Amino acid sequence: MEIIRVSNLDIGYGRTVILRGLNFSIDKGRITVVIGESGSGKTSLMKTFIGLMPPLAGEMVLAGERIDFDSQRSLEKLYLRIGVLYQTGALLNSLTLYENVALPIRIHHREWPKAKEAEIVRTMLGRVGLRDCETKYPFALSGGMRKRAALARAMVLEPDLIFCDEPSSGLDPITSAGLDELLLDLKTSLGVTFVVVTHELRSMARIADRVLVIRGETILYDGEYADLPRSDDPYIRAFFLRKVDNDH
Ligand SMILES: Nc1ncnc2c1ncn2[C@@H]1O[C@H](COP(=O)(O)OP(=O)(O)OP(=O)(O)O)[C@@H](O)[C@H]1O
Ligand SMILES: [Mg+2]
Repeated sequence: MEIIRVSNLDIGYGRTVILRGLNFSIDKGRITVVIGESGSGKTSLMKTFIGLMPPLAGEMVLAGERIDFDSQRSLEKLYLRIGVLYQTGALLNSLTLYENVALPIRIHHREWPKAKEAEIVRTMLGRVGLRDCETKYPFALSGGMRKRAALARAMVLEPDLIFCDEPSSGLDPITSAGLDELLLDLKTSLGVTFVVVTHELRSMARIADRVLVIRGETILYDGEYADLPRSDDPYIRAFFLRKVDNDH
């Protein structure tokens, strides 16, 4: 089942189109990996997905409802239903982990009683293995712990989809593999839907159910990860299959 569908979507800045005529959907409860060279528009795609940047053209349908990027109410729905793990993690250093994870609740559900907030925040910290760290500050954590805390914050409103922009950037390979396992675990045990931007072929090989390859302003490959070896596109063959094979 699809949770998001985009049709004829153009994304860009002012008059500059970065991505043109995108048509794809995101499957519920699966991990879709978005891969593409630096500057190809992956973060720009994320900005549109989370409502920070209206598309230049086309439409986006979330859970059967068309998003109206001119309507604050419609955007609010997007903010609530799509969680995000930013490329840099983006935790606030002046807040404890507890407060960081509680932030979306305090912004969007000011009416929630403190006990309800505490129960949810602690559940989320537990899910990412940081149950005992709620009073710690981000600067006192390792890079991997910060990414996991940011993931807890992205999950706290139980969104339909979590967009992770380069979750393993800045992490060593072992910590990065641990984060991949966590995403897989959240997908399998809770049915969380992920869109994960990555440069790392090894990570893609581990987590991807589906793959979108961005190349030259558009989507060169949109399909099952398992079908990638059957692609006869020269770019896919040269840059992906050989490297993935070498990694194993
Ligand atoms: N605020 C902005 N205004 C104008 N152009 C921008 C802006 N942000 C990004 N761009 C341009 O959009 C293009 C895509 O950038 P984007 O950050 O989406 O790439 P990316 O695929 O996420 O790259 P990376 O892998 O390095 O993170 C680039 O050419 C970039 O220069
Ligand atoms: Mg980026």
